[in-house]
Formats: sequence, structure tokens, C-alpha cells
Amino acid sequence: MPKEDREHPLQIRYLDNNATTRPSDEVVEAVRGVLATEYGNPSSMHVAGARAATLVDEARRRVARLISAPPEQIVVTSGGTESVNLAIRAATHARPDRRHAVISAVEHSSVRRLCRQLRTEGFQIDEAGVDSEGRLRVDNLAGLVTDQTAFVSILHANNETGVVFPVEEVAEIVRSSGACFHVDAVQTVGRISVCVNEKSGDLMSFSAHKFHGPKGVGGLYVRPGVSIKPLLIGGHQERDRRAGTENTPGIAGMGVAAETARLSMDRVNPQIAQLRDRLQQGILSRFERVRVLGTDADRMPNTCNACFESINAEALLILMSELGICASSGAACSSGGIEPSHVLEAMGVPEPYLRGSIRFSLSRYSTAEDVDFVLDRLPDLVSRASKIQTSAQLTPVSR
Ligand SMILES: Cc1ncc(COP(=O)(O)O)c(C=O)c1O
Repeated sequence: MPKEDREHPLQIRYLDNNATTRPSDEVVEAVRGVLATEYGNPSSMHVAGARAATLVDEARRRVARLISAPPEQIVVTSGGTESVNLAIRAATHARPDRRHAVISAVEHSSVRRLCRQLRTEGFQIDEAGVDSEGRLRVDNLAGLVTDQTAFVSILHANNETGVVFPVEEVAEIVRSSGACFHVDAVQTVGRISVCVNEKSGDLMSFSAHKFHGPKGVGGLYVRPGVSIKPLLIGGHQERDRRAGTENTPGIAGMGVAAETARLSMDRVNPQIAQLRDRLQQGILSRFERVRVLGTDADRMPNTCNACFESINAEALLILMSELGICASSGAACSSGGIEPSHVLEAMGVPEPYLRGSIRFSLSRYSTAEDVDFVLDRLPDLVSRASKIQTSAQLTPVSR
């Protein structure tokens, strides 16, 4: 079996783009250039500062254009997690008289764990369910929202299944209650067309590393009239909504990534979808005891989450990784074995499939060769993984 060593580096087959994406060459070049030469502080009154401030302004305009928002309504942050925290804290302050919130049962941990924290602060948080395809049960959500609801926060697309939620429909429900509406669009901005308008969220989070930008930079769209209480207190950056010297290279890189995404997504998405479908059909034709999640739902073009019956996903991921194949699983390893993902549990995925979920997520850099490589190796890998039931039998991926 090929093993990674200095002389024989493994060829990486990267199919884990919902975790993060490869920065594009233009982004790497922009970040490197700004880091090397445009080191002024954007708040400084001299020429070096002015140049840096111009770069930040230009990037903000590019990001704003990507989502059809006014540039001044974008708060640049350190990424999706900070944006989500900023948004939800702002939403709780927007309606201080209300102590109730609604999220979906399949939110990302940034929303789930913050809401767990809010519960300890006296908030009541209800969770709207999803159906077996991972679609939001909008009727369920509508029944939970009341005139005491401070905010509703839902994903635009789920990171594990790629299933897209009907934001406009939910916006109508939320608006009539007077609550604040946050959309976690980290998996969609820069990947599919996302426009803010009167039918979208009041607040919308996004993250550059999900669309071939740098890590550690992202943003929050804030609808005019919604006030933001900063999480970070200090200087007057970001119109007093987020203090701290701007990450100029990262922000410039995000701007470049946003521009490329805006100009290329209509062209690349059909190609990505075609490759994803090739992978999906290949899996379904090779295995009888497999379920692909969300195939009947509105789904991101890049995601294929396949659940293999009676397979330990961690074992399969490690065996795949030995061949250079990078994918992921919602299941988490714990001392008691594999913990199933809350997303799959909420969807009611039957027990034999619950711990065998492998998420493949593609990007514009994915190739037919990568997909065929995976399809050729999977039968043997799944057969070997089926003989490994406990994590103790595994050799972890060396780091
Ligand atoms: C849906 C969703 N929300 C939020 C985040 C957090 O974003 P970041 O990694 O930029 O902090 C992620 C990252 O995986 C995500 O998939």
C-alpha cells in the first residue's frame, strides 16, 4: 500500500471542500503581494496607510457585489464562526425584551454551541426539525416562532448534506413576528448565487475559505437599520462594529476570491454538478447497502454524502487517507466509539447507516480522474473498513 514519505509524496485527491477549499492562484498571489508590500495600517494617516485602506475598500466592494449588498453593510470578520457569534449576539440585543429563539436541528456547531450558551443565560431555544431528505420542516418552524421570539437562525445550506433551506419562505414567517433573522450562508456565499434583498435575512454570515479565499477572514452582511453591538472593543474599525487592525492581506485575498466566484460560478457549477453526479451514480451502482442523503432535495451542486451500512466512517476515512483521498464524516470519535452526527440523527437515518457517513464535497479544482480514482478504490476500502468496528483497531493518520 502506498505510504507517504519524503521521496514519494502521495497525490492528494481533495474531496473535502465543505471543510475548506484550496486558495486559487490569484488569491495566493494577491495575499503574498499585499503581505510583502502593502503593510501600512489602514487607519494610519500616511500614504502607506491610505494604500492599505484603499485595498480594504476595494475588497469590501467586491464582496458586496458578490451578494448584491451595499459595501457599507458588510462587516469584515475573522471568518464564519465570528460572523455567526456577532450576528446572534446582535440579534439578542436587537430585541432585549424577548428571550426566545428558533434554530434548526441541523445547524453548524457555531450556532448550536452559542445557543447552548444562551440557554445558560436564560434563553429558551427551540429547534425546528428536518425531514428524511434533510429539508427544513417550515411548518414546524412556523409553529415555533411567536411574538416573543428574539431571533431565528438557520443555515442557507447544510455543511454535511448540502441541502439548501428555503430562506425566502422563512424570512416571511420571521418578519411577521418582528424577530431578527440570521442566515448562516457560510456554505453558499461564493458558491451559488446569493443576493440580499427584502426577502433575505437581516444578517448573513459568510467565510472566504469556503470559496477559494484565505482562512481567517469572512464577513457579516447587516441589513440597514439593524444595529450591531461589537464583540471586540477597541479602535473604530469597521464603523465601530468590529475593532482591531484589519487583516489586509486576507481581506484583499477575500476580495479576489469573491470577484472570481461572481464571474465564474455559472460556468463552473454545472461542471461540478456533473462530477458530483458521476461520483454519486458510481457509488450507487457499486454498493447495494448505501444511502446517499438529500438526493430528492434542493442540494448544493458539489456535495454527496454517502452512508455505508454497518461501516465505521472513521475507519473508512483513514483507509482512504492512506491513498491520498481526503473526505470527511459528520460522525465524531468519542471515548465510547463513533458518535453519530446530529444532522443524520435529525434526519432519522436508520441505525445501520448512522455511523458510516462519508461526505464528499467537490470544487472547481476537482477532476474526473479524482472521482474515478475514488470509485475504483472504494469497493476494496469499504470491504476492509467493514472488518474494523472499533477505533482501537485503527492507526490514526500521522500529523
Ligand atoms: C455552515 C457553517 N457555518 C459556520 C462555519 C464556520 O466557519 P469558519 O470556519 O470560517 O469559522 C462553517 C465551517 O465549516 C460552516 O460550514
